[in-house]
Amino acid sequence: MKVGWNAIVTGIGAYLPDKVLSNAALEIKIETSDAWIQARTGIKQRHLAADGELTSDLALAASRNALADAGVSGKDLDLIVLATTTPDSTFPATATKVQAALGMTQGAAFDVQAVCAGFIYALSVATNAITTGQTQKALVIGAETFTRLLDWSDRSTCVLFGDGAGAMVLENNAINSAERSGVLSSHLHSDGRFHDLLYVDGGPSSTGTTGHVRMQGPEVFKHAVNKLSEAVLEALDANDLDIKDVDWFVPHQANKRIIDRTADKLGIDPAKVIVTVDQHANTSAASIPLALHQGVEDGRIKKGDLVVLEAIGGGLSWGASVIRW
Ligand code: UT7
Repeated sequence: MKVGWNAIVTGIGAYLPDKVLSNAALEIKIETSDAWIQARTGIKQRHLAADGELTSDLALAASRNALADAGVSGKDLDLIVLATTTPDSTFPATATKVQAALGMTQGAAFDVQAVCAGFIYALSVATNAITTGQTQKALVIGAETFTRLLDWSDRSTCVLFGDGAGAMVLENNAINSAERSGVLSSHLHSDGRFHDLLYVDGGPSSTGTTGHVRMQGPEVFKHAVNKLSEAVLEALDANDLDIKDVDWFVPHQANKRIIDRTADKLGIDPAKVIVTVDQHANTSAASIPLALHQGVEDGRIKKGDLVVLEAIGGGLSWGASVIRW
């Protein structure tokens, strides 16, 4: 007898713009060095969206990739949740542009804003829609043209970010036994008292401009390690799971040192951690699906594996999800 719905992952896709900006190329623009960037962040390069290439274009490319992987047509979707901090316009939601381009005319498409934690938030919203029976086929997207928020004269932030997109197809699947699969849980947190640690100094209601990223890096670093460790333990505990049960950790890709420090604090084997930050820097909401896509494509993440996602960003906002792949 059917007792409810699982939200299972049936497809994953990614897109990175063609243009690559290496650390060496940044050395020419600002006072920095490849050695500093690699030692402090693990980043080797980042991708930049071309002039006229918008967040919706990146999102659409990743979405087509994910839909092909799932064998699902855009017309079959009844939900798109797109996580972004860099929408094409203040309104309407960038998700509705993707919706139109995919030929989807039913259901709903909207954006969520939780900066670097955005993919976890979007995944949570889509999972809840599926497990409550509201939605059958959802597309969850993380897409950013984050470099458009950068102050290229601020070396403490401009070397850290890149553009990109990733997407995941989630489908409902009847739960016929006690064994659950797909997205098992998402835990979300935010604490607005930490606004000043990481924010953009503009917006439609304040300055009328888009603004630039401002960050107190070392403070964010400390919060990241502590809050991400707590979120992972909370997520595992909620599922009666332990660190040793996890096959793959897929952290937000902001800084290799944050990833290493968090894994170390939790006693996670570094061989179980998927790291892609070297290739695309911090792509905010896109980073988790980009890393997931890499792990699936190179054969590390396989059906049945237990995968834990975690992310933190401006807000501060953070969270973790557990997926039986
Ligand atoms: O998605 C969540 C968003 N953000 C994050 O997760 C970022 C969290 N924070 C970080 O990743 C790190 O704090 C940074 C990578 C931003 C900075 O690394 P750090 O080890 O915390 O360095 P710092 O800010 O303490 O700076 C150390 C030195 C400073 O020089 P002095 O004062 O020691 O002489 C900086 O001026 O490094 C200098 N510096 C640079 N040098 C060369 C800062 N940026 C650069 C740079 N190139 N790009």
